[in-house]
Amino acid sequence: MEDYEKITVAPVTPCVGAVIGDVDLSTALDDQTIAEIHDVLMARHVVFFRDQAISPQQHADFARRFGPLRKAQRAAFEVLDDVSEMQVLINDRERPPNVNHYHSDGIFRTNPEFGSILYGVDVPVAGGDTIFVSLAAAYDGLSNGMKDYLEGLSAVNDFMKLHGSPAKARSWKGDNFARMDAMRQDNPPVEHPLVRVHPVTGRKHLYLSESFTTHIIGVDAEESQRVLDFLFRHVAKPEYQCRFMWRRHSMAFWDNRASLHYAVADYWPETRRMNRVTIVTDDIGASSVTTLSRQA
Ligand code: OGA
Ligand code: MN
Repeated sequence: MEDYEKITVAPVTPCVGAVIGDVDLSTALDDQTIAEIHDVLMARHVVFFRDQAISPQQHADFARRFGPLRKAQRAAFEVLDDVSEMQVLINDRERPPNVNHYHSDGIFRTNPEFGSILYGVDVPVAGGDTIFVSLAAAYDGLSNGMKDYLEGLSAVNDFMKLHGSPAKARSWKGDNFARMDAMRQDNPPVEHPLVRVHPVTGRKHLYLSESFTTHIIGVDAEESQRVLDFLFRHVAKPEYQCRFMWRRHSMAFWDNRASLHYAVADYWPETRRMNRVTIVTDDIGASSVTTLSRQA
C-alpha cells in the first residue's frame, strides 16, 4: 500500500479489505485523516477499525464526514431511539441471524447508498464473521469473452426477491407488516447495469447480488438464469473475498458500489448486536483528487 501520513494500513487479502490503525474515532478527525481513510476505502472496498469505544452519536458523526446519512426506516432492522439514522441488527435466541446471503446494500433502490458503517456492540466469542467480496477483482477474473458479453447489459433488481422469501418471513409479522409493505411500495424493481465503471476509481466492476438480481434484460429467460447462476458462483469464490472476524468495538466501513457482503450465520443461539448507518452519497469521492483513481 502506498504510504499515508495520518494512518496505518494493513491489507487483509490481495484484493479486498484493509485494517486501518492509528485512528481514534471518538475524536474529531482532521480532513486529511478523513481523506486518507476514503482513499483506502476506494482501493480496498472495505476498511476495518479495531477497539473503538464510541457512542452511536460518534459513529454517526464519523459517517457524516463522508456524506449525508439515510434516515433509518424501521422495517427489516430496528432503529435506535435517540439517533434517527442508526439501525440496530439484533440476533439472539428468539431472532436467529438471517443476513447470510451475498448482497450490496440498496441494490434494489434506484439510488443505492454509497457506504455502510457497521459496528460491533456485542459479538459472539467465535463466529458471526462478515465476508466481503471485491466486485472489481471478480470482474477482472472473468474471461474476455464473458466481459464482452456482459458489456452494455442491465439486470433487474427486486427488493422482494429476498424480502418475499421464507428467509425473511419474520420481518412481515404483526405490526411490522405495514412497514415492510411500505418498503416494498417504495422500491419497485429497478434496472442497473451489470458492469459499471466506478465513479471515483474508474475501475470496472460487476454489480449484481444473488439476493436481489432477478434477470438480465433483453435476453432469453433460460440464458439469463444460467448466466446469472454462473456469475453468482463466480463472485462467491474465496479468491475475491476477505473475512472479517469481529471483536467488540470493531467497525467495518464498506463501499456498496464495488463490493458484496455476507453475514455468516454460525453462532445461533448466541447474541450478536450491531449498530449501522448508511451513507447516501460519496461526497468526498465526488470532490476528490485521489491519486489512486488515476492509477487504477
Ligand atoms: C448490513 C449487513 C452484515 C453483518 O449491515 O448491511 O449486511 O455482518 N450486515 O451483520
Ligand atoms: Mn447488508
